[in-house]
Amino acid sequence: MFFIPENRNKNLLPNDVFKGLMIPRPIGWISTTNHAGEINLAPYSFFNGFFSWPNILGFSSEQRKDSLVFAEETGEFTWNMATWDLRQHMNLSSEALEIGTSEFEYAGLTPVPGKAVKAPRVSESPASLECKVTQIVTLTDLNGDKTSGTVVFGQVVGVHIDQKFITDGHVDAIKLKPIARCGYNEYTVINEIFTMERPDNAGKPFGGEPEKTK
Ligand SMILES: Cc1cc2nc3c(=O)[nH]c(=O)nc-3n(C[C@H](O)[C@H](O)[C@H](O)COP(=O)(O)O)c2cc1C
Repeated sequence: MFFIPENRNKNLLPNDVFKGLMIPRPIGWISTTNHAGEINLAPYSFFNGFFSWPNILGFSSEQRKDSLVFAEETGEFTWNMATWDLRQHMNLSSEALEIGTSEFEYAGLTPVPGKAVKAPRVSESPASLECKVTQIVTLTDLNGDKTSGTVVFGQVVGVHIDQKFITDGHVDAIKLKPIARCGYNEYTVINEIFTMERPDNAGKPFGGEPEKTK
């Protein structure tokens, strides 16, 4: 079957299929603060890493939401890993609370001050990345018209990871049990992995700073 997005058969597919196909999407659980010191936390599944060195990641705000406004104001944000154990907390933190009301408190989470940025991190999360904003990009459509979507890109300036999730020098995905968003109200959790070596990469490092050439 083929269709252009605007002409979907709504009897067969009541919902747009895009979010059901872009799966699984890692969750950008984004914490921010503003100049007044108010703190904010919300999940963003239009989120990913985009460049390996320097480490650059980004989240996409469908309208001007608080995370975008706070990141714009301070030039900083922190990504926190959402895990199976934290799934309910993550979900609660998506509620649109009045500006100034902390989603941390609402979701029963503890904010810890950042080390390299002012944005707090989620103490209960096993891994957090402190980021400084590098670009804020308004998404445009095919006609060049602005959409209501804005992507906030940031470079990692600080890494927190609970050492119990490091096994033989690797981040242990099975122990971490990160959750990811699928379509509709569906999620998935990493409880199985497989490995496959890239044909041209045998023995090379898994990302990170490029090796110095003499
Ligand atoms: C798992 C999950 C993923 C979400 N992903 C996005 C997203 O990618 N973009 C977006 O604008 N809102 C997304 N939302 C909704 C926001 O979390 C929600 O609007 C929240 O209130 C925004 O908070 P803020 O205004 O404090 O930034 C998501 C919600 C959930 C539960």
